[in-house]
Amino acid sequence: MPQSPSIMTFRVLSRLGSFALVAVLCLGHSDDGGCGGSDEQEEEHEHEHGGTATGATCPTSNAPTAQNFGTAFLQDYCLSCHSASATGVARQGAPLAVNFDTLDEVRTQIERIDTHAAAGPGATNTEMPPANRPQPTQQERATLGQWLACGAP
Ligand code: HEC
Repeated sequence: MPQSPSIMTFRVLSRLGSFALVAVLCLGHSDDGGCGGSDEQEEEHEHEHGGTATGATCPTSNAPTAQNFGTAFLQDYCLSCHSASATGVARQGAPLAVNFDTLDEVRTQIERIDTHAAAGPGATNTEMPPANRPQPTQQERATLGQWLACGAP
């Protein structure tokens, strides 16, 4: 059943209003990577805790693999906390269910990893690793985005 024009207009305007609010909040945070990871934004992401999807795509040639990229990246930047072998204080508070020891674990969490640590045309997400830990370069974050977009082969 079609809705009356005035109700439709009201809905459209209130959606535009919340987009405008997000835009303002993002401007205020442009020094820490734009919109990625700011708490104010979380309500706009119904199911995602981290930042914004990077929009990275899988390159048609020389795609990154676990062997030439992913395994070392995770080892260098993530596994000190996100590993079943890291227990107690070693996890630094990393959620017990969020480990990246196996490619299967990575593959079921592609979207989360992308929105927390990867870079691409849509966003650079720097929520992970935590700021007091060694940080991947922009290039490494971009390659992470591509590797995830390929399905973490
Ligand atoms: C120093 C320990 C540490 C390191 C290193 C680390 N993390 Fe985390 N990670 C945490 C903690 C603590 C949390 C929970 C707090 C939060 O979500 O901000 C977390 C949460 C996450 C989450 C969100 C899980 C959820 O509940 O949705 C993801 C995804 C994640 N980390 C990915 C990564 C990736 C990818 C790397 C490597 C690039 C990494 N982390 C490196 C400590 C760490």
